[in-house]
Amino acid sequence: MLEKKLITKHIGVIDPKSIFEYLRLDGYKQAERMFDMSRMDIHDAFETSKLRGRGGAGFPVSIKLMAMAKESTQPKYIICNADEGEPGNFKDRYLMENNPHIIIEGMIIAAYATGASKGYIYIRGEYDKSIDVMKEALQQARQKRFLGENIFNKRFDFDIEIRRGAGSYVCGEEFALLESIEGKAGRTRVKPPFPTSKGLFGKPTLINNVETFATLPTILEIGGEAFAKIGTPSSTGTKLISLSGNVKNKGVFEVPFGVPMRTIINELGGGPLEGRKIKMIQLGGACGPVIPEYMLDMVIDFDRFEEFESKTGAGAIIVMDDRQDIFDVLKRVSDFFQHESCGKCTPCREGNLHMLKTLHKFFEKTATEKDLSLLETQARVIHQTSLCGLGQTAPTAVISSLHYFRFSFLKRIEDRLEEANYAEN
Ligand SMILES: Cc1cc2nc3c(=O)[nH]c(=O)nc-3n(C[C@H](O)[C@H](O)[C@H](O)COP(=O)(O)O)c2cc1C
Ligand code: SF4
Repeated sequence: MLEKKLITKHIGVIDPKSIFEYLRLDGYKQAERMFDMSRMDIHDAFETSKLRGRGGAGFPVSIKLMAMAKESTQPKYIICNADEGEPGNFKDRYLMENNPHIIIEGMIIAAYATGASKGYIYIRGEYDKSIDVMKEALQQARQKRFLGENIFNKRFDFDIEIRRGAGSYVCGEEFALLESIEGKAGRTRVKPPFPTSKGLFGKPTLINNVETFATLPTILEIGGEAFAKIGTPSSTGTKLISLSGNVKNKGVFEVPFGVPMRTIINELGGGPLEGRKIKMIQLGGACGPVIPEYMLDMVIDFDRFEEFESKTGAGAIIVMDDRQDIFDVLKRVSDFFQHESCGKCTPCREGNLHMLKTLHKFFEKTATEKDLSLLETQARVIHQTSLCGLGQTAPTAVISSLHYFRFSFLKRIEDRLEEANYAEN
């Protein structure tokens, strides 16, 4: 069985709108049990699990939890990042709409482990259904006294509020998200300080992805050691994959880390459409690399993703078949980043505009060899000098395409020369 259902095991089995069905399958058991554990044992379980954040950067969860727990300033905040603005990703929406209580349970566990009293779920503005389902689930949890004052009849207060996202991709970036909740324009902050010491309203704040929080109850249930045995040594546990594009079955699938992408595409995605061949995929979403078909045996693993200078591996696989043109892909991606740049720093604001202009020459077959090296320089400078992750990853598709599909760029230059020769003769 290729799928391994840890955090999606309730999906299709219970009615997500009923807390009773979640409780029937031992829901909220780990949150309740945790109050009888020492905080040290809880932290040990997370450290041993080697869990890494599922929002893209793959940062070790236990480091953030521990840093936040050590802070003595009150109040402390927990934020669940459900902004999911990255094209190609839809797994957080899937979790919220189909298993809302596992996310709330995970947030309660994180709150107790770190001593936080207030939580926010920052949900993408367009996700109306997710907002409705999460609101209802929070209400049910309050009625059961899993949220509010003295939760689970213990001397611990914790409640959660929903915030609707401000409609911009950059608001998913943790510092821009903090600004947005504080009622300001969604723009990143200069770091350090990091949120665990000075986050929301200047107070210690833990920010994690929806899938990360949803994984915490499972770790307490099976234990950190058992969890660490799933997946690969550097990427433990399972990953939700948002599979889309030119495949027979699109959807969200939970697989252990270490599974080759070709297996996911063929066995879960049903392979390419009839009579078509896979040409390339984009990995992670718009900010990820475009890689050719022959690399599909690469396995799902954070460290492998980083080899592409892309820190973002939220788990999207966008499949493109032999009808797709690499320049159409780059145009869509570059338009997206040009539009989403918040304008705060020059390399991203101006650099993306100039890179798009150079790319246009390739779209229109007017590019020269000089434009090829200019494009390379522009992409590198934007990647290396932008202030936040948006600018740093905006040129990833271009950088990877210049590497794997260089012949396509050279062909465009050749085409221009041939057309010029033809016109002269
Ligand atoms: C432009 C941009 C958008 C982001 N959008 C999201 C998002 O929608 N959801 C998310 O969890 N992380 C997003 N991130 C990553 C967050 O900044 C942060 O690393 C993450 O929420 C931490 O959670 P994790 O450790 O559980 O992955 C984004 C980062 C950047 C640079
Ligand atoms: S990299 Fe882009 S999105 Fe990030 S701060 Fe700079 S201009 Fe804004």
